[in-house]
Amino acid sequence: MQLQDKVALITGAGSGIGAAVARRFVNDGAKTCIVGRRENKLKETAEGLPPEKVKIFPGDINNDEDIDKMVEATVQWGKKIDVLVNCAGINVEGGVIKVDLDDWNRILRTNFLAPFMLMRATIPHMIKQGKGSIINIASIGGLRCLQDRVGYCTSKAALIMLTKQAAVDYGKYNVRCNAVCPGFVLTEMTKEHFGEAPADAFRNMPLRRGAEPHEISGICSYLASDDSGYMTGSVITIDAGNTVVDAFEASMK
Ligand SMILES: NC(=O)c1ccc[n+]([C@@H]2O[C@H](COP(=O)([O-])OP(=O)(O)OC[C@H]3O[C@@H](n4cnc5c(N)ncnc54)[C@H](OP(=O)(O)O)[C@@H]3O)[C@@H](O)[C@H]2O)c1
Repeated sequence: MQLQDKVALITGAGSGIGAAVARRFVNDGAKTCIVGRRENKLKETAEGLPPEKVKIFPGDINNDEDIDKMVEATVQWGKKIDVLVNCAGINVEGGVIKVDLDDWNRILRTNFLAPFMLMRATIPHMIKQGKGSIINIASIGGLRCLQDRVGYCTSKAALIMLTKQAAVDYGKYNVRCNAVCPGFVLTEMTKEHFGEAPADAFRNMPLRRGAEPHEISGICSYLASDDSGYMTGSVITIDAGNTVVDAFEASMK
């Protein structure tokens, strides 16, 4: 119960990684407000969890009014906000000359500007409380390039720099900010873009498999907890060793 007495807000909690993190937080003792646009998916996440520990907030992080409302609703309900997990995200295809401009604007808004606005709404509460932990779910795509995904990789790289900047600016108030960079996680997002990955798709990864969403939740619970009180500005990969292997060399074996 390392999150006993914590109050958290998690975006993108209706599916995939965000749903797994939400369930883990509640099981570790946190009161958790879960956000996403599809209320039915949020209800699925909350199923079987103690109702007094979960607040469902259907909302769109691309709407600034919704952002203020979700932060205020969390603070009213939990009397404080200890943890913000920016997990909601999207993926779009295309390189610089091919990406649809609406897609480009949408992905930068969802993956980068919305987390910025959520941090802007949350950090003042954390400063007042003298404590807080922000966890930004970035991606290994923010550390190195993926084919034809300029929007995704650029937005995640910007999110990583935003994480470091907030760590530097708000460390003196004991507000911590860290980024988690998953590799390939088996969720709606990867299914939509890659279909069912063929068995040999993972052959160049040291662990040779994709992750289940719950495998990303433990690190988030740790970063939310007081055990990680000395960690800020960290960028943590959790990617089956994907970023430490040379893909070209591995493909020759
Ligand atoms: N899967 C991977 O391999 C992988 C790897 C690295 C990083 N990540 C990152 O992990 C995060 C979660 O992705 P996932 O794989 O778990 O995908 P997912 O299952 O598609 O989850 C994304 C969630 O974000 C929510 N969302 C999207 N736009 C939103 C908006 N405007 N307002 C509120 N909620 C919104 C979606 O819910 P609604 O549609 O109901 O709003 C959805 O539940 C993303 O930031 C992604 O980039 C994933």
